[in-house]
Amino acid sequence: MYNETVMDHFTNPRNVGVLEDADVVAETSSPGCGDITKIYLKIRDNRIVDVKFQTLGCAAAIASSSMATELVKGKTLEEAWTLTRTDVADALGGLPEPKLHCSVLAEDAIRTAINQYRIDRGLAPW
Ligand code: FES
Repeated sequence: MYNETVMDHFTNPRNVGVLEDADVVAETSSPGCGDITKIYLKIRDNRIVDVKFQTLGCAAAIASSSMATELVKGKTLEEAWTLTRTDVADALGGLPEPKLHCSVLAEDAIRTAINQYRIDRGLAPW
């Protein structure tokens, strides 16, 4: 069902865990299945210098979170904001059609974290 890249990120997820000195933490859940992703971002000079995640969910959700954290690490907040579920699914080499919605969790969690970071600093959310 899953390709090699998805299986690799599922069985050996990158950036998994808790970031103790995160500047912002955000959690999102999928309304459809209830799976949860929590994202921790460390931000310096408007750039994501470190990121970790915890996902309570299916293999596709874990692989998507892992890939999404790889894609946003080192990016500016503006660049990270533009990351879409399609970018994540493409970077994974594709997800099976019934599992495409699972890549939404990572995108949502990252955007929620970025907006929370902005709100915490008195800036308008994007
Ligand atoms: Fe819930 Fe995949 S089935 S995120």
